Amino acid sequence: MPDVVELIITKRDGGHLAPNDLRWLVQAYTHDEVPDYQMSAFLMAAFIRGLNEAEMDALTDAMLHSGRVLDLSDLPGRKVDKHSTGGVGDKVSLILAPLVAACGVPVPMISGRGLGHTGGTLDKLESIPGLRTDLSIEAFRRQLRELGVVMIGQTDEIAPADRKLYALRDVTGTIESIPLIAASILSKKLAEGADALVFDVKCGRGAFMQQEADARRLAETLVGIATRAGRPAVAWLTDMNVPLGRAVGNWPEVVESLRALRGDFEGIEDLIEVTLALAGEMLWLGGVAETPEAGRRLARAALTDGRAFERFCAMVRAQGGDVRVLERPETRPDAEPAGEVRAPDGIRGYVADLDARAVGRLAVHLGAGRRVKEDPVDPTAGLVLHRKPGDPVAPGDVLATLYTHRRDRLEDFQQALLAAYRFAETPPPARPLLLARYAEGRWRTP
Ligand code: URA
Repeated sequence: MPDVVELIITKRDGGHLAPNDLRWLVQAYTHDEVPDYQMSAFLMAAFIRGLNEAEMDALTDAMLHSGRVLDLSDLPGRKVDKHSTGGVGDKVSLILAPLVAACGVPVPMISGRGLGHTGGTLDKLESIPGLRTDLSIEAFRRQLRELGVVMIGQTDEIAPADRKLYALRDVTGTIESIPLIAASILSKKLAEGADALVFDVKCGRGAFMQQEADARRLAETLVGIATRAGRPAVAWLTDMNVPLGRAVGNWPEVVESLRALRGDFEGIEDLIEVTLALAGEMLWLGGVAETPEAGRRLARAALTDGRAFERFCAMVRAQGGDVRVLERPETRPDAEPAGEVRAPDGIRGYVADLDARAVGRLAVHLGAGRRVKEDPVDPTAGLVLHRKPGDPVAPGDVLATLYTHRRDRLEDFQQALLAAYRFAETPPPARPLLLARYAEGRWRTP
């Protein structure tokens, strides 16, 4: 049996651990045979010294096999999933999963909750009245077979080592490590049974990776581990300096997703651009499109002809959600606006910038996220932006609508949003949203 202190010292001093030692460590920690204080020391050593390729593969594999690994090979089709590293207004999964399924590629998706200032797909889905995300593995398989799409949360059976390690990293300052993030993400994604993966690696002040060089390294690491585990993978680096789309918050993002699923793209062209780029890759990897570009065209058609919307409704119905509210989402009685934010006097010209991190933080305070782990999430809290960078603005124009049940703090919220905006007399230069694509060991700039 390896000596835990020796393993910690080896990593602390910049050495490399043998794959079997790492596997043993993860297994022993998962079974409470190694205490939190020793695992914390190991995580900090790994955070500072890094992990090489063999160590990352072994760590991922050990975390993956700490729980159930789904085998979906008896279900027809090449299954493909997408993972986003997290952003503000990032509701892409809600549109993408039913869209790709409607085009013939099954999507088995296990999603997470909001983290810090970023939103989580699970919280967004659960804002739909009645919708359940805690399906059993058997129900997950059945729905995937029948509908080609299923979206659930991480169960106790999937990668339990990650659950434990993630909670420990969260309180020991060891989250922002590329190898640890990659092993954490992939231990869950490889467990869900997808044959291929697409990563949306967010980059900018609203993302966990603020520097492009770090985001590129994370993308290379994710694709590298997935490929070595036998899953073809592609990563897109996408800009996350400004919120994606116009809605931020759980139900507001569902409402915006429904517009996209019905083919109404006005004012949300950025959201559609990212969604179609990722859909194109998934349809290509899933074998129904000759190229990613051909996949984008197939996906656009499924958004505009209503197939994606129908598939979304079928998924909501199958998971116990109320589909009637999806027909006229703006009439939901508990989603009344609390107030507006208007452009002050003296502001004339254009919106020059809007800080995604500040908007994400505000959404948390409005009730859409958790300030501490135990906080309940208010499903309808959030905001809708009526002015984004590049839009003209004049005094009194409505910049945003706020949704919150914390109405006693409305004035603070209005000030906070105003502080996230910058204005200028001339329009800002256009910023690319799709920054670069990484596949087969090469970067390509679109
Ligand atoms: N998301 C994860 O699943 N794990 C991390 O470590 C960071 C983001």
